[in-house]
Amino acid sequence: MKARIAVLPGDGIGPEVTAEARRCLEAVARRRGHQFVLEEAPVGAAAIDLCGEPLPAATLTLARGADAVLFGAIGDPRFHDPSLQVRPEQAILALRAELGLFANLRPAVPHPALRRASPLKDELLAGVDLLVVRELTGGIYFGRRSRDAESASDECRYTVAEIERIARVAGRLARGRRRHITSVDKANVLETSRLWRQVVTRVIREEFRDCGLEHQLVDSAAMLLLARPAYYDVLVTENLFGDILSDETAALAGSLGLLPSASLGDGPRGLYEPIHGSAPDIAGRGIANPYGAIGSAALLLRHSLGLETEAAALEKAIHQSIGDGVLTADLAVRGTQAATTSQAGQAVLDRL
Ligand code: IPM
Ligand code: MN
Repeated sequence: MKARIAVLPGDGIGPEVTAEARRCLEAVARRRGHQFVLEEAPVGAAAIDLCGEPLPAATLTLARGADAVLFGAIGDPRFHDPSLQVRPEQAILALRAELGLFANLRPAVPHPALRRASPLKDELLAGVDLLVVRELTGGIYFGRRSRDAESASDECRYTVAEIERIARVAGRLARGRRRHITSVDKANVLETSRLWRQVVTRVIREEFRDCGLEHQLVDSAAMLLLARPAYYDVLVTENLFGDILSDETAALAGSLGLLPSASLGDGPRGLYEPIHGSAPDIAGRGIANPYGAIGSAALLLRHSLGLETEAAALEKAIHQSIGDGVLTADLAVRGTQAATTSQAGQAVLDRL
């Protein structure tokens, strides 16, 4: 098949890990006779440096015209001053909004060989296989903001239609899994959460009767995710809660560097990024973990290009590389030699 893929490496370790994901996509194309056209463009602080804005028009145009976007990471300590008007993070928020990517999928399946890397006990990690479905273009992230000398406010708003469509995504994905949906909200306090609970209940009861549905309050869910993570299958939640809970699930996997994500809209086009950030403290040293980025490339093959066989093969190659002990510094056993970013990427290529 032919596909256009926009590659937006971004900041910090973004370019290093994206280079490995890109190599894997090119290898898949070569070996399976596909034609992938990969075009790169700047985003985030890298784009601010080059063009004065985090999401230049040319980058957005490239993304719009592509079948999928392979994204690295954004963020740069030079822009941490809260009074700044232009920030790298604005680019990813704008891309999500502009491309209509309202559903963010963040799977977490701890590798058996990495149980020691997780702070949780071994017996708690057995059987953990969960998927966070995070609403990505609504809620407090996109509400009105205001600020004066004495106060600040961030509006949190959800419409029925926004909740319905994310509930449907959770329902469809649950059908391919264990059919158990946990919807997370704060309905004992927030009005948006009361609406959320009501709409999710209706959609799942009416359209996904074969799936179980349960509601949990976000504070309790945050605790239970650590106390009995294997209990969860699909967790569906609003933007801010999903941001927080999905980082928590990374602790189960052992490293933030391992987790991939897919951001999807109504059609097949999606944006794929590791959930880790730009990690400026280790950037440019060739030691970042590329597995989250490569796993994101696998999700791209599956969700945007419909190449399930290729996606599964790439995931298997990552799984085997980890099983064979090819581990970057975030995961390597103390006293052993850690793999570099490109050695880990090469390990995946060798096993593909
Ligand atoms: C993420 C990130 C972003 C978010 C930031 C960089 C805006 O933390 O993708 O989870 O909060 O959504
Ligand atoms: Mn986050």
